[in-house]
Amino acid sequence: MKPIETIMRTAPVIPVIVIDEVEHAVPLAEALVAGGLRSLEVTLRTPAALAAIRAMKQVPGAVVGVGSVTNPKELDDALNAGAEFVVSPGLTEPLARAAIAAQVPFLPGTANASDIMRGLDLGLTHFKFFPAMAAGGLPVLKALAAPFGQVRFCPTGGIGPDNAAEWLAHEAVLCVGGSWVCPRGAPDRSAVEALAREASQLWS
Ligand code: 3PG
Repeated sequence: MKPIETIMRTAPVIPVIVIDEVEHAVPLAEALVAGGLRSLEVTLRTPAALAAIRAMKQVPGAVVGVGSVTNPKELDDALNAGAEFVVSPGLTEPLARAAIAAQVPFLPGTANASDIMRGLDLGLTHFKFFPAMAAGGLPVLKALAAPFGQVRFCPTGGIGPDNAAEWLAHEAVLCVGGSWVCPRGAPDRSAVEALAREASQLWS
C-alpha cells in the first residue's frame, strides 16, 4: 500500500483544520484523536499554521499533515515544521516533483481528467477531488473514476455529515476531507470529540 493510501485509510474523514491561535492546536488535536480521527490536515491559511503543526505533533496518536500547500517553498516550510503528509488544492509539476523528491505522502487536488492524467504521468494515483461539491459532486467523481480504475480519491469541499456517507460508498473514495468536524475558533473539546466520533463511524 502506498504511504498516502495508509494515511487515507486511517479514518473515513480527514479534518481540514484552520488554526487562528496556536493555543487552540493541541486541545483540538486531542479531541479529534479521542474521537477517532487521527490524520489531521492543518491548512497553511493562517500565520499560526506552522506552529500549530509543531504543537499537534506532540499529541499521541495524531498524524499531522499540512494542507493548502501551493508551491515548493510552502512544502519546505511545512516539512521543516514536521508535516507527515501534504495536501494541495491543485496539481503543479514543481510542487509534485518536490513532494515526490521529499518522499512525503502527497495528495494533490484534481477536478478533471487532465489533472488526473498529469498526476498519473508523475506516478501519482491518489488525489484530493476538489472542490468536490462545487466541481459537480458525486456524478462528476463517478464519471472521472470510470476511465481511471486505479485512481483513488479524497473528495473535499462542501462535504458534511449529511452527504459524507454517499461519497464514501463509492469504491474509488478512500476517505473524505472536511472542516465540519473542527469548527474554527477556540475548540469545544467535548463537541469536537462527538463530531469526530460520529465521523469516524462513517465506514461502519
Ligand atoms: C479544503 O480546503 O479542503 C476545503 O476548503 C474544505 O472544505 P469544507 O470547508 O467545505 O469542508
